[in-house]
Amino acid sequence: MAEVKTHSFDAIIVGAGGAGLMAALYASREVNVAVISKLYPTRSHTGAAQGGIGAALGNIEEDRWEWHAYDTVKGSDYLADQDAVDVLCKEAIDTVIELEHMGLPFDRFPNGKISQRRFGGHTNNETGKPVQRACHAADRTGHMILQTLYQQCIKNKVNFFDEFHVVDLIRVGDTVRGVVAVEISTGDFHVFHSKAVLFATGGWGRCWEVTSNAHSLTGDGAAICVRRGIPMEDMEFFQFHPTGIYRLGILITEGVRGEGGVLLNSKGERFMEKYAPSIKDLASRDVVSRAIFLEIQAGRGINGENYVHLDITPETVNKYLAEAGESRRITREYVEAKLPDIADFTRTYLGVDPVKEPMPIQPTAHYAMGGIPTDVDGRVVLDQNNKVLAGLYAAGECACVSVHGANRLGTNSLVDLVVFGRRSGVHMAQYCKEAEKLPLPKNPVDEVMAEFDRIRNGSGGAKPYELRKQMQKTMTDNVGVFRTDETISKAVDDLRLLRAEYNRNIQIDDKGARFNTDLLEAWELGCLLELAEITAVSALNRTESRGGHARDDYPKRNDVDWLKHTLCFSENGKLRLDYKPVVIGRYQPKERVY
Ligand code: FUM
Repeated sequence: MAEVKTHSFDAIIVGAGGAGLMAALYASREVNVAVISKLYPTRSHTGAAQGGIGAALGNIEEDRWEWHAYDTVKGSDYLADQDAVDVLCKEAIDTVIELEHMGLPFDRFPNGKISQRRFGGHTNNETGKPVQRACHAADRTGHMILQTLYQQCIKNKVNFFDEFHVVDLIRVGDTVRGVVAVEISTGDFHVFHSKAVLFATGGWGRCWEVTSNAHSLTGDGAAICVRRGIPMEDMEFFQFHPTGIYRLGILITEGVRGEGGVLLNSKGERFMEKYAPSIKDLASRDVVSRAIFLEIQAGRGINGENYVHLDITPETVNKYLAEAGESRRITREYVEAKLPDIADFTRTYLGVDPVKEPMPIQPTAHYAMGGIPTDVDGRVVLDQNNKVLAGLYAAGECACVSVHGANRLGTNSLVDLVVFGRRSGVHMAQYCKEAEKLPLPKNPVDEVMAEFDRIRNGSGGAKPYELRKQMQKTMTDNVGVFRTDETISKAVDDLRLLRAEYNRNIQIDDKGARFNTDLLEAWELGCLLELAEITAVSALNRTESRGGHARDDYPKRNDVDWLKHTLCFSENGKLRLDYKPVVIGRYQPKERVY
């Protein structure tokens, strides 16, 4: 049996992306904090966020945080909790300025202020026209946030356990005592004893075939919480970003359209004029992804294939800018300066030079709107009455505050990370100063160690990569941009069979201890399968279309029956659904027109 080591801290943060690092920075000013990450911190997926972080700074034209709030609520198809949205949009402003003061190298306007670009669904509420709200560092905004926060954490002497994979939460009744992790280089199990735990482990886009998500995005924190009795909120709402590189899914930032890029079908038509006449290519992501899907379905994909073109060549963009009566023109040099990473990606992976020719793109599984339910201080809540589980926190994509409702606006993920990461860190520190450290239970690693032994020693012949492929296929075919009762039911059946196979017959090749990625990836597959089934079951029950959940058999939004959040509980091997009300504030639900 592998050796078990025990460590003791006030607060444990699982995950070293933007939310985890912001929480660590704040909590570590007051208490003893450790960040545990299965990756080296600066490899976290926040680094893949490209186009910008939304904040109503008004650096180039008038803007107000209330406009940002309204756009967020409208984008969410009215499912976001409006009290939380107010916090997000108000605090976005000083959080971005805080990042600037930490040294984040934002692009600048000629007047020296942080540069802001247009992004989908962000508008001047009075004119309805796109507003420049996305603060950016070229198309590497997430990368720069990650580097900046990591440097700050190092400066503040935060303790890091890099390449330690957290695999369990130590929960005793309604108390939290720490986590269990596997040290990847040795295979040793470690117990981290603490007063409080925060999960900031990101999303689970790897449930689908084509995704913008890194290999590491396997929903570990969310699945661990499910296994320890915490419900999942609004899991049926998973966002498909309109513009992933064809077949590969790698993100091509919405910033391309923010800079003037347009979507074109096989006839060369700018088809978004038809689906969103007022705001066109800058409609919210759910609207644009559906439009691309419908164009392809109607046979207007390029060369009859499953993709359309995204065009940022100066010739095309300048033609449409002139048509719109705008004086601005772009050049090849401008594209290279504002969008260097996407230019590099398409040249490297496709041999396509975006300043000379259009890019082939298709919708790509991108972002979980749902997740671990929390309040605005990151505290995890257990039920429809928002009962708090003291000492347990979640922030970032794995959490559902809920500020994104049924569809997130671009740039709001980075805002979510830093605003709610900061609030969680502050609250956690206060909690740790007041709370007792409760003793560890006897043998806290036994249960998860037994699961690892089962996977390691399994001999039933079911290979993880085969099960993963089947899961991704059924989720893509049946719980994708459009769904119906028939397709979702098929996914539920498939996933139940796959989970049974996983539980009975899993077999891996590597039986060793050191760097056993075969074993760890098999364990991650268990997380993905669990979250995929919760997604499908939640989707099956919601008989309406709203935001990222579009049902051909129930094409309309139904506020009478469905203006409510889903909660999915896993109890004795079965899933149970419940619901809780949406917090409505200034904005009464109305039809969305873009
Ligand atoms: O399109 C993008 O740059 C992605 C940003 C986001 O998901 O917020």
